[in-house]
Amino acid sequence: MKPDMRVTLAGIELANPVIAASGTFGYGIEFEEIVSLERIGGFVTKGISLAPMTGHPAPRIIQTAAGMLNAIGLQNVGVDDYMLRKLPPMKRYPGCKVFVNVFGSTVSEYIQVIERLNQAEGIAGYELNVSCPNVHAGGQAFGADAGELEYLVRKAREVSMRPLIVKLTPNVTSIAHMAMIAAEAGADAVSLTNTFLAMSIDAETRRPRLSNITGGLSGPAIKPIALRMVYETACAVKIPIMGMGGIVTAEDAVEFLLAGATAVEVGTASYADPRAVERLARGLESWCRSHQVEKVASLTGALEIPQN
Ligand SMILES: Cc1cc2nc3c(=O)[nH]c(=O)nc-3n(C[C@H](O)[C@H](O)[C@H](O)COP(=O)(O)O)c2cc1C
Repeated sequence: MKPDMRVTLAGIELANPVIAASGTFGYGIEFEEIVSLERIGGFVTKGISLAPMTGHPAPRIIQTAAGMLNAIGLQNVGVDDYMLRKLPPMKRYPGCKVFVNVFGSTVSEYIQVIERLNQAEGIAGYELNVSCPNVHAGGQAFGADAGELEYLVRKAREVSMRPLIVKLTPNVTSIAHMAMIAAEAGADAVSLTNTFLAMSIDAETRRPRLSNITGGLSGPAIKPIALRMVYETACAVKIPIMGMGGIVTAEDAVEFLLAGATAVEVGTASYADPRAVERLARGLESWCRSHQVEKVASLTGALEIPQN
């Protein structure tokens, strides 16, 4: 029996629920000779801003126990260059859904990026990265303030001609509460989690290891926390969830689906194995076959909690 690996997320049909996470898969097209793009559900681009950005100086990636710390500083080519050079070649892979990760330092910047992307063909949906500092709110992340988040999502929903997935930051007291705010403001789905604010110090030099001093922790180290956050969010909202945080094996992906995710994103694993996303897509299918799961969609939220 070949399991049915299709899932539908915010009206978007994916060939399977495994998606490459933002910032770890370039603009997708760079991976065409490494990964069979038609074998993965899709990918999320590196965060795209209105103008190109060079990011932070090196060092901006540090390996940690069971994970990595990054402070890339949102380096990207800017929306115009993305639409001109990076997006068009993806037409060769129609089965691989393209999600564009959008960010800005003001609400107006977010809106302008979405308005430009609306004019392009070949994009399945937008992932709104609300983890970046809001210049009007003194540098605090949009996603860390309920009022700012509500306003941004409502404005983005007004202009977006495509499904809007709000990517939540875990650096808040209750991510489930933020998901409820995003849902009420019109988000079609939420994705979580982004990286956890962290730092690394070199005791010999007495200096921070990252030029930016702090960065975002990702990889297996965060998996149990991300899983708990997905579970709590699934209990709080009805909109679909893309779950991520430290997924390396097919079994990890299954855990996120059971916790309530409709699809999963794979990030840091691609640094250790550039074929990780394809390996996971195949591995999840094998897992379904060996566990007599006819439809992968049936795993979403199928966590069994013992009663007594
Ligand atoms: C090097 C690097 C760059 C990232 N860049 C972005 C980004 O531009 N936008 C975004 O929303 N998330 C970004 N992320 C976060 C990932 O998409 C993902 O949410 C996070 O790493 C947790 O998943 P993982 O443990 O599978 O990596 C980045 C992560 C890494 C490691």
